Parts: sequence; C-alpha cells; structure tokens
Amino acid sequence: MQIVKTVIALQDAVKAFRAVGKSVGLVPTMGALHEGHKSLVVRCRKENDVVVVSVFVNPTQFNNKQDLLTYPRNLEADAKLLGDAGADIVFMPSVDEVYPEPDNRVFNLGPVAEVMEGKMRPGHFNGVAQIVSKLFAWVEPDRAYFGEKDFQQIAVIRAMVKLEGFKVQIVPCPIVREADGLAKSSRNVRLSPALRKIAPNIARILRESCNFALSHSVAETQQWVIDGINAFPDLRVEYYQIVDALSMQPVADWNDAPAISGCITVYCGDVRLIDNIAYRK
Ligand code: PAF
Repeated sequence: MQIVKTVIALQDAVKAFRAVGKSVGLVPTMGALHEGHKSLVVRCRKENDVVVVSVFVNPTQFNNKQDLLTYPRNLEADAKLLGDAGADIVFMPSVDEVYPEPDNRVFNLGPVAEVMEGKMRPGHFNGVAQIVSKLFAWVEPDRAYFGEKDFQQIAVIRAMVKLEGFKVQIVPCPIVREADGLAKSSRNVRLSPALRKIAPNIARILRESCNFALSHSVAETQQWVIDGINAFPDLRVEYYQIVDALSMQPVADWNDAPAISGCITVYCGDVRLIDNIAYRK
C-alpha cells in the first residue's frame, strides 16, 4: 500500500495502474475509520483492480467550527485498517494541498440539497461537492463508494456528478451497525458510556416504525418516531422526514414514490447522530 500526500503523487500512482489497463475504485473518507468504512473498502476491492482511499477532514463542509475542531482524527490507526482491508493507494493530504487557494465554487445542486441536512447545515453540501469533485477530477475513478448512513449525501453527490459530467458510477453501500443497532459512525467515540447506552434507541424506534407504518399514515409515523425518541431525556430529534428516496422531497402518502425512506438527525447529549430507514425500496 502506498501512502501519498500530494496531488501529483496521487495522480502519478493512479496513472501507473491506468497505463496497464487497470480499473480504479475510490473510497472518499474523513478518517477515524471504523467497520463501516472497512466495508466500503472491501466492496471496492472486490469490484476494482485498484483501490484508492482518501483520508481528509474537509474543512469546507463543516458549518460549525467546534465540530471541525473536535472531529476525531487517527491517521496511524486509519493506515493500519486500510492496509488490512486491501487498499492500494491512500491519499492523506494537508488542507493546503487540497485548497492551495480558497475554493469559491458554488454548485447548483437543486432541491435534493435544500432539505434536511441542506437546511440544517447551510454550506455543508456545497463543501462536500467541492472536495468530492476535486477527488473525482484527480483520480478519475470508474466507481466511487459511499455509505448509506449519509443517505442524502449520496443523492447530492449524484446531482454533482450529473452537473459536472463525471463518468463515475456511484455505489451506495449498506449501513454497518453495532450489535445493538447503533449505526457505526466516527462520532460515536464522542458518546459517554451513559449516552452510548441510550443511542441504540434511535435505530430501534426506526426499525419498529416499519411495523407501525403498515397501519398508519406518513404523518402519523413521522410523529410516532419523533415522540418515541424524544421520550428519552438525553435524545432530541432535530428532524425526522419521510422522503422520496431519490429526490429527497417529503412525501405525504405511502404511494407517493416507488422508494421511500425516513431520515433522522438526533442530538444524543451534544453529539449529533444521523440514521435512516427504508420503508419501501
Ligand atoms: O461522508 C464523508 O465522510 C464525507 O462527507 C466525504 C464524502 C468523505 C467528503 O468529505
């Protein structure tokens, strides 16, 4: 496995493989890697000759300075996990390497980026589009792998790919969960032992809501989830929205779209957790 820190070294490493006709898969990450990331790398390994992983805490997608400062970082452990998972090239650049000058590009991502995370975290998706478009331009991957925990992000990246005309296949990968159901997330390490015990109720209530939904309306199901989670003193729902799984727009009726998911953000103490559930795939 090669660890490269500059864009030139990244492009040279990829070019060497391309020259002999190899296919290239990319797994963009912000590090603090866990089993969820590992599953992306393993899938990428199966489907491509060459596996490129980027590890970069992208400042332009943080609309909250404190969140950027406290975002977990562990480059040594990340390199070990990536070696074990079979990565070929790991790109670990500095902020100056990625942004030698400010990136002022504004992406017109459309309605998909305006709801939920787009509304709660202004500028977040534009920052994601900035970094992912740079990575796609540098690596020119055949396929790129993203976890479905960030469900809306996948739709936004698809919109960016269309807008920019990248020829990359976006591959969504299932959420990896802890044994108690909590979605794996780099932010979970920030949960105190007490909060860690309560957090799995988010996934449990989402799961149980699939049954509730069989005999209740969208609005009733939405409220049932919000009330169930807010009943825990240390959990506070920021939003729960049942949406068309492609357009991310709210649905009013279970027949409004062929695929329907529920997307949630919950503060567990001061840790912001996200999760989602498919009502209809
Ligand atoms: O999902 C993430 O970890 C980040 O948003 C991504 C896609 C790596 C861009 O920084």
